[in-house]
Amino acid sequence: MERTFVMLKPGSIQRGLIGHIISRFENRGLKITAMKMLQVTTELAERHYAEHKEKPFYESLVGYITSGPVVAMVLEGPQAISVVRKMMGATDPLESSPGTIRGDLGLFTGKNIVHGSDSEASAKREIGLFFSDEDFVSYKKCDEEWILE
Ligand code: RTP
Ligand code: MG
Repeated sequence: MERTFVMLKPGSIQRGLIGHIISRFENRGLKITAMKMLQVTTELAERHYAEHKEKPFYESLVGYITSGPVVAMVLEGPQAISVVRKMMGATDPLESSPGTIRGDLGLFTGKNIVHGSDSEASAKREIGLFFSDEDFVSYKKCDEEWILE
């Protein structure tokens, strides 16, 4: 099964949307194999978003992601990376389709409320930044036989 890294950004926590967003992933059939709430440090934010270092929005992005607690998790499932990206919708919530997380729950790119890895390499790198091996729980869900083929 493929693993992806998901982070509920500070806006999710402040707006009381943690449960709602996690429910969407659970309802889809994705399995949570690691999860924690944390305050992202500037150093961690800079490593996480290193690819955007030269972009004009970089400072506000780091500022937003460090502005309050986040919930970080690893989700597992078939093609989990692209499944989560499709569920999140486009980066700009105004361009995100209704029915997507960003399309249903926001209006501004700089305040979009969820992050998901965009490739296998990103997933591996981001999981490594936020989690270590002992953070993972291996278990079987009783509904797996009704979701997975
Ligand atoms: P993310 O990394 O947060 O999951 O978002 P993404 O892949 O959809 O988009 P990405 O290009 O990686 O951008 C990362 C975050 O930077 C902010 N951003 N602002 N003002 C702008 O033009 C702009 N572009 C990107 C967004 O908060 C975006 O989620
Ligand atoms: Mg990205």
